[in-house]
Amino acid sequence: MVKVGLIIGSLRENSFSGLIADKVASLFPEGVQTEKIELGHLPFYNQDLDTEGNVPEEYVAFREEIKGFDAFLIVTPEYNRTIPAVLKNALEVGSRPVGDNAWDHKPAAIISQSPGNLGGFGANHHLRQILTGLNMPILQQPEAYISNIMNLLDDNGELTNEGTVAFLQSFADAFVALIEKY
Ligand code: FNR
Repeated sequence: MVKVGLIIGSLRENSFSGLIADKVASLFPEGVQTEKIELGHLPFYNQDLDTEGNVPEEYVAFREEIKGFDAFLIVTPEYNRTIPAVLKNALEVGSRPVGDNAWDHKPAAIISQSPGNLGGFGANHHLRQILTGLNMPILQQPEAYISNIMNLLDDNGELTNEGTVAFLQSFADAFVALIEKY
């Protein structure tokens, strides 16, 4: 059984990013188990706190949780041409202490989305830069920039657009093939 953590770069209740993550999760084959990872409760990373006897319990639990996954699917909006702070904070918390980076060697796939035309390209590529520094093998192709997200939903707010679902299936398949290599 492969465990894939779903990381959503938005705290919004009806987040489009969450909707896409759920869709991709439903497209994985049997043998892939997914689980959402909460980010909103993590205190802002503060190096002063990350010292013996002072480490917040949220940091400790988060690092343990991350180590329990085999791979991560990250779906995020773009905020001001980069990734939202809540996502960056979680990546920082998991990356420390030095020499014990919880993200190390864990494959990741990135999907950015936007109501606009650019599909969160800036966030997507900034995230690639960060994950490279964290030593995470990243799914290179297909790249996933979901633009005009509102136009892809049906009257019930479900992601049913045929072309998009077919694309997300190819994305999920490519990600599973990457995970199997590690
Ligand atoms: C945005 N949004 C946005 N969109 C975009 O394409 N490029 C951008 O730089 C920004 N910047 C930005 C900043 C802030 C502070 C907010 C709140 C929003 C719009 C954003 O992409 C849109 O709200 C997303 O669809 C929200 O994603 P979730 O929360 O539905 O996952």
